[in-house]
Amino acid sequence: MKTILVTGGAGFIGSNYLNLVVPQNPSITYINFDCLTYAGNLENLTSIENAPNYKFVKGNICSVDEIKSVFSTYQITDVVHFAAESHVDRSILGPRAFIETNINGTFNLLEVAKEFWQKESSFSEHRFHHISTDEVYGTLGETGLFTEETPYTPNSPYSASKAASDHLVRAYHETFGMNVITTNCSNNYGPYQFPEKLIPLMFQNAATGKALPVYGDGKNVRDWLHVKDHAEAIDLVFKKGKSGETYNIGGHNEKQNIEIVHLICKFVDTHVKPKTSAFDLITFVEDRLGHDKRYAIDASKIQRDLGWVPKYTFETGIEETLHWYLTHSEWISRVLSGDYQEYYTMNYGKRA
Ligand code: NAD
Ligand code: DAU
Repeated sequence: MKTILVTGGAGFIGSNYLNLVVPQNPSITYINFDCLTYAGNLENLTSIENAPNYKFVKGNICSVDEIKSVFSTYQITDVVHFAAESHVDRSILGPRAFIETNINGTFNLLEVAKEFWQKESSFSEHRFHHISTDEVYGTLGETGLFTEETPYTPNSPYSASKAASDHLVRAYHETFGMNVITTNCSNNYGPYQFPEKLIPLMFQNAATGKALPVYGDGKNVRDWLHVKDHAEAIDLVFKKGKSGETYNIGGHNEKQNIEIVHLICKFVDTHVKPKTSAFDLITFVEDRLGHDKRYAIDASKIQRDLGWVPKYTFETGIEETLHWYLTHSEWISRVLSGDYQEYYTMNYGKRA
């Protein structure tokens, strides 16, 4: 019987992962360990919060004591590690939390997991799955793709902190023989993304008549993957991936940012029908510092070795996603007002 510690399960990708795997794997228990920063939202998990194989534990990966406590209380057998500070712009404004959570927090988790699992003869059966990003590879020119062999050249404090954590995870395999795996994924989109990231931010601004701040010339390229495809890939790699390996995950959907913004404007003009076109709100602003030009993932290893292929095309995925934001204006309002943070006190705080 597995009891998986899922760190950061109240965030965008973690909650989509838990919403997928909890009902699909009734024999596995999932402990969602999240300290609920601004990015953690338990309202993303209402469909599974009463499932017998799911439990939320408020805890911080920066606290060794809190990690030790959750390991011993629930006899954790495996880790799927999402918890991180994830927004590049915030890492430029204030990198400290990125170092503390992404580097030190990952180190704390590795140490406690090693110590806990080393007490057992089944040490190598316990898997530590680290969720990482394609940003560790730096930036591409006009051509080429990131493979698992691309050298690490992170450019932002965020990507540098993720790169450091990837190296620590790798080192715990090489040095201590821990059963680790790392997945590096491209830009995700889909439901429950915090409206500071490109797609939900642009949708919300366009729908409410606010300026759409496009950094630089808008020609930077991101490679988009639907978050549910990412969640399925993680579940597959966790179950079937080879210890010590890394797997790139991406949907081969390269788009310039301005193309995405145009698509959102067209959607808003069609479905929200504002008095003046959303296209009029597009505003080119000063570029992000150190702005990576282009990301593009070569996902042939996970396809070849594990048979993973994304289910969504970008066209169906983005249409579905924009409809989700259109029909979940209350979710967005509660996030923007901060009301979502009361959910913990109302539903868990009394019991904590
Ligand atoms: P997110 O910001 O939406 O969620 C992060 C979650 O981690 C939140 O629930 C937050 O409360 C929690 N958290 C933060 N610090 C914590 C701490 N110290 N202790 C416990 N919990 C903490 O992030 P996301 O977009 O869902 O990203 C999840 C992971 O996937 C991250 O590791 C990120 O680097 C990686 N990733 C993200 C993308 C993307 O496009 N969003 C792409 C590739 C990889
Ligand atoms: O590639 C994977 C990464 O994707 C993840 O590791 C990160 O956690 C995730 O946040 C995302 O990083 P990006 O920086 O690519 O995502 P973001 O949505 O912030 O920006 C996408 C692109 O849009 C980027 O080129 C910057 C641009 N942008 C973003 C915002 C928020 C704008 O032009 N205007 C904006 O207001």
